[in-house]
Amino acid sequence: MLITFEGIDGAGKSTQVVKLKRHLQEIGREVLTLREPGGTEVAENIRELLLQSKHEIVPVAELLLFAASRAELVQKVILPALEQGIVVILDRFSDSTTAYQGYGRGLSLELLDEVNRIATFGLRPDLTFYLDITPEDALIRKFSEKSIPLAFDSGELDRMESSGLDFYDRVRDGYLALHDSQKERIMLIDALLSPASIHDLIVRRLDLLKS
Ligand code: TYD
Repeated sequence: MLITFEGIDGAGKSTQVVKLKRHLQEIGREVLTLREPGGTEVAENIRELLLQSKHEIVPVAELLLFAASRAELVQKVILPALEQGIVVILDRFSDSTTAYQGYGRGLSLELLDEVNRIATFGLRPDLTFYLDITPEDALIRKFSEKSIPLAFDSGELDRMESSGLDFYDRVRDGYLALHDSQKERIMLIDALLSPASIHDLIVRRLDLLKS
């Protein structure tokens, strides 16, 4: 089974990935958690390029780099794990590309669908948890965790995070549109709920899937 987590930076995905992994292990499942971009040596190099580069990257090149990292991870790690019956939990997958490169950067959704299909070898998540938060709340959360002043030019943000609030508004719109069109696969959860309540909702949704 492939479970993905989605949401803008600061939505609290990684906390939920850890909680879900622990829960599934407690009920006897073998679990592999991964985050994108990255997860193989080549994909980690691509991650470095995408997030730490001080140079501008044109949107199509950015799209293809995320796609290249995904193809590496899917073919080398995710597909073999799924074949062995391991539950794979992914912090971000192709919905991130649709939201960030499609809605955020403005690339055509047809191009996005085609590139996503190629990079995933047609693999689709069984279930996706989208943690919904406004960019303003996400930013406040992120900066309060680090105890640093709230500013987009503080030098504390990576290349993607420095894209500004308008960009993140478009990315969120993208996620909401994805959720609207695929409600059976994508569960929307209010990211401002407590981590424990969010985890309960996730476990209940997974129980429904089993029954
Ligand atoms: P990361 O540090 O993993 O952020 P987060 O903890 O928010 O997941 O950085 C990943 C960044 O890359 C994040 O800003 C989202 C962006 N991204 C895309 O723009 N497109 C993609 O396809 C993926 C997977 C990530």
